[in-house]
Amino acid sequence: MSIDYLRISVTDRCNLRCVYCNPLGDCGFFEHGEILRFEEIERITGLFTECGISKIRLTGGEPLVRKDIVGLVEKLAAIPGVDSLALTTNGVLLEPLAARLKDAGLQRVNISVDSAQRDSYKRITGFDLLPKVTKGIYKAIEAGLTPVKINSVIIKGLNDSAEQITALAGMSIHLPLTVRFIEYCPTGKYTKPASDYLPNKDVRAIIERKYGPLSSVVEGHNHGPALNFKVKDSAGAIGFISGRSSTFCCSCNRLRLTSNGKLMPCLYSAHTYDLKKLIRSGASEKAILDLLKRIISEKGNYTKLNSLKEDFSMCKVGG
Ligand code: GTP
Ligand code: 5AD
Ligand code: SF4
Repeated sequence: MSIDYLRISVTDRCNLRCVYCNPLGDCGFFEHGEILRFEEIERITGLFTECGISKIRLTGGEPLVRKDIVGLVEKLAAIPGVDSLALTTNGVLLEPLAARLKDAGLQRVNISVDSAQRDSYKRITGFDLLPKVTKGIYKAIEAGLTPVKINSVIIKGLNDSAEQITALAGMSIHLPLTVRFIEYCPTGKYTKPASDYLPNKDVRAIIERKYGPLSSVVEGHNHGPALNFKVKDSAGAIGFISGRSSTFCCSCNRLRLTSNGKLMPCLYSAHTYDLKKLIRSGASEKAILDLLKRIISEKGNYTKLNSLKEDFSMCKVGG
C-alpha cells in the first residue's frame, strides 16, 4: 500500500462538545507554544511531499477556530506535490469562510452532522447550531468545495431512530452530498460507553427499508475507509465507515500529525514520533527526511488492528 495521505490536526480546540468526542468541552488543551506554528506545518508538509505524500487533510479539534486558517490553506496549496487539499470541519464557522477557503486552494470539505433534527443535534453537540451548519453546507456546495461529505456518528439512544437515520441518508437524494455513517469508536471515560455503538449493517438495513436496495458506487483510486453506495436516482451517495465491525488496516494509506507535532502511524496505536522536537532542535533536512522515510516504510508495524488504546482523545488526533 502506498502511503500518500497525511492528516494534519491544526488545533485541539473545538467550539462544540460532541458526546462521543469532547463532552466536557476541554480535552486538556495544549498550550499555545506547544502547537505547531504555520511555518512548521508548511515545512513538514513540504518534506512529506518529497516522501510520496500528495494528499493533505486539515483536521482539529475544529480547524476553522485556528486563527488565519485561510492563510495556512493558501501556503499549503502552493507547495509543489500537494495534489489534494481537504478539510474536516463541524461546519459551524463554514458559511463565511467557504468561498475564501476555496479561493485559497482548498478542494473539498467533510462536515460533521450527526442529526438532521435540531433538538437531537443540540443534544449530541451541546449547541443549537444546526441551522448555522446547514447554511455552511449550502455555501460549501455553492463555492465548489466538492464533493461535500457529511459525517454522522450514530449512537444508541441518541440518533439511532429510523426517522433520524433516514433523514440523514435522505439528504443524499436531492443534494450532491455523500452522507457517511461512521461507527462510534469509544475513546475514554468521559465519552459514551462502547456498547452504545450501532453496527453499520443495522444502519444500512434501516436505510434500505425506506429507500430500497443500495447499489455500490465503484470509485477510482480511493483508499479511504468508506464503502459508498447510492439510492436509485439520487444526486449524492451514502457511505459507511465501519471501523468497529470491520478492519481496513491492510489498505490504510494515511499518517496523522497532531497539533503538537507528534506523528502517529496508526489512529489506534500509542506509538508516536515527536517531529516538533526534532524540528525545533535544528535537525538537518536530511535527518528529518530520513526519519520520515523510515516511518513510512515501517508504518505497517504499528497497525493495531482495531485494538484501541485507553483514553485517547479524538479532538487531539483529528479523527
Ligand atoms: P476522505 O478523504 O474524504 O475519504 O476522508 P476521510 O474519511 O479519511 O476523513 P474524515 O476526516 O472525514 O474522517 C471520517 C471518519 O473516518 C473519522 O471518524 C475518522 O476517524 C475515520 N477514519 C478516517 N481514517 C481512518 C482510518 O484510517 N482508520 C479508522 N478506523 N478510521 C478512520
Ligand atoms: N468515533 C467515531 N467517529 C468520531 N469522530 C469524532 N469522534 C469520533 C468517535 N469517537 C468523527 C467526527 C468527525 C471525524 C473527524 O471524526 O464525526 O467527522
Ligand atoms: Fe468538536 Fe469534531 Fe470533536 Fe465534535 S467531533 S467535539 S466537532 S472535534
